[in-house]
Amino acid sequence: MRIAILSDIHANPDALAAVLADIAQRDVAATVQLGDVVGYNTRPRETLALLREHAISGVRGNHDLMAIGRLPPDQCGPVGRKAIRWTRKVLTDADCDYLASLPDELRLAGGVLCTHSALGDPGVRLHARAQFEEETKVLLHFDGDLRVCCTGHTHTPQVVEVGPAGVVRRPAAPEVALDPTAFCFINPGSVGQPRDGDERASYAIFDPEGHHVWFHRVAYDVRRIARDNARRGIKLGPRPATTRSLISRLFDPVP
Ligand SMILES: [Fe+2]
Ligand SMILES: [Fe+2]
Repeated sequence: MRIAILSDIHANPDALAAVLADIAQRDVAATVQLGDVVGYNTRPRETLALLREHAISGVRGNHDLMAIGRLPPDQCGPVGRKAIRWTRKVLTDADCDYLASLPDELRLAGGVLCTHSALGDPGVRLHARAQFEEETKVLLHFDGDLRVCCTGHTHTPQVVEVGPAGVVRRPAAPEVALDPTAFCFINPGSVGQPRDGDERASYAIFDPEGHHVWFHRVAYDVRRIARDNARRGIKLGPRPATTRSLISRLFDPVP
């Protein structure tokens, strides 16, 4: 059974709709989202409506928790904080109830766990080898049957395997064969706010039985959401790879 993995939609319904249309053309049995449904962009209500309309299950991220006042709005830069303040004003009680109803983690069949970032901490950035080794221990202590953790938050599409060969980082590729003996982290990248220099929406399809992941990019009209944001006083610049991820790549290179 193939699962579409979406993350970091960030109040961008145009990107989400394009991704859902792409998924509809493929052999996919279910779609899950890994949190940060809102934040940064300025069409959160349409995004939430699309998720409900398509009955997409998922977890909550740090921006979702900031938007409903469950986390202080200080886990992002000044533009992100401004967007959270704006988002808080426009969400209805029903929208807040929906976000509050999302769990911190979601268990899928086949030893798969979905979280926004680390278990119990949606704000930490998993990027160094030692972090993935430690998180593997935490996850296996949480549930010894787990084999895969689908995680977002960094907006960096990749697979990280922790196994006999050590920690192996596999960049996003059209098709990635997983090491069935390793514990695998799958990050599908961001649907609505990519940061790797490619503005197209990013998502992944995962086949737990076949141990394969396919990464997809979907083009859509990125100017429309930029115009909507600017009209509401939220000016998001282009999002190249973050300084931290560049430093991580330099000092923690791909084997
Ligand atoms: Fe995010
Ligand atoms: Fe996040």
